[in-house]
Amino acid sequence: MLQVRDVRISYGKVPAVHGVSLTVEAGTIAAVVGANGAGKSTVLRAIAGLNRIDAGSIELDGRPIHGLPAHRRVPLGMSLVPEGRHLFPRLTVRRNLELGAFTRSDKGEIRESLEMVLETFPFLREREQQLAGTLSGGEQQMLAIGRGLMSRPRLLLLDEPSWGVAPMLVARIFETIQAINRTGVAVLLVEQNVQRALSIAHRATVIQTGRVVAEGNAADLLGSELVRKAYLGL
Ligand SMILES: Nc1ncnc2c1ncn2[C@@H]1O[C@H](COP(=O)(O)OP(=O)(O)OP(=O)(O)O)[C@@H](O)[C@H]1O
Ligand SMILES: [Mg+2]
Repeated sequence: MLQVRDVRISYGKVPAVHGVSLTVEAGTIAAVVGANGAGKSTVLRAIAGLNRIDAGSIELDGRPIHGLPAHRRVPLGMSLVPEGRHLFPRLTVRRNLELGAFTRSDKGEIRESLEMVLETFPFLREREQQLAGTLSGGEQQMLAIGRGLMSRPRLLLLDEPSWGVAPMLVARIFETIQAINRTGVAVLLVEQNVQRALSIAHRATVIQTGRVVAEGNAADLLGSELVRKAYLGL
């Protein structure tokens, strides 16, 4: 479904990603793991259209999309839940969700999506009129994922969904990601929580300083010496 081929990305003159390739098969969870500053967010933002690529290609359903602006990639079926969530803290929960549907116009269909999101995250229903900024970190993360779902993506791009989430809610976030995937939505998951990410992913890519150092079946990688030594401290 998504094919990233040998992308290079820089910030000004400073290169950050030196040729990364990865694929996401329809209906699967793919993880990208790596240490701080490895380039995970840079790659994810390039897929969403928020970073320009210097070289390489990004294809969705076999069609190149790297020339399109971010807002034209959303209706093609991808949605980014950014690192740090970027909610509108002074707007209500309901309004934050509605903004996730900004590329859509059919009111009836938007209402259906809202209902689906409120079924996925029932606590949001009671909080619809509450300001987003008053939710806990974990609740805000679920709201951000809910907002991402409001564009009805076939591919959900998640950047550090466990960031700033209380330990007791982290497991629930990962369970929800699996539940969303079971409805047929493909997920590209960027995480520093390597153990959890590899536990729910089908395939995974490990990046170090802007380069792919390992790729394969997520369960195999979780058991590999590279991952156990470099990321799990085992
Ligand atoms: N806006 C920016 N301007 C300049 N350099 C940047 C910018 N954003 C990221 N970088 C640099 O690009 C490299 C990759 O950063 P990136 O944020 O993609 O890493 P990451 O793997 O997502 O890290 P983290 O786990 O901390 O989120 C780093 O060297 C970082 O300092
Ligand atoms: Mg990051």
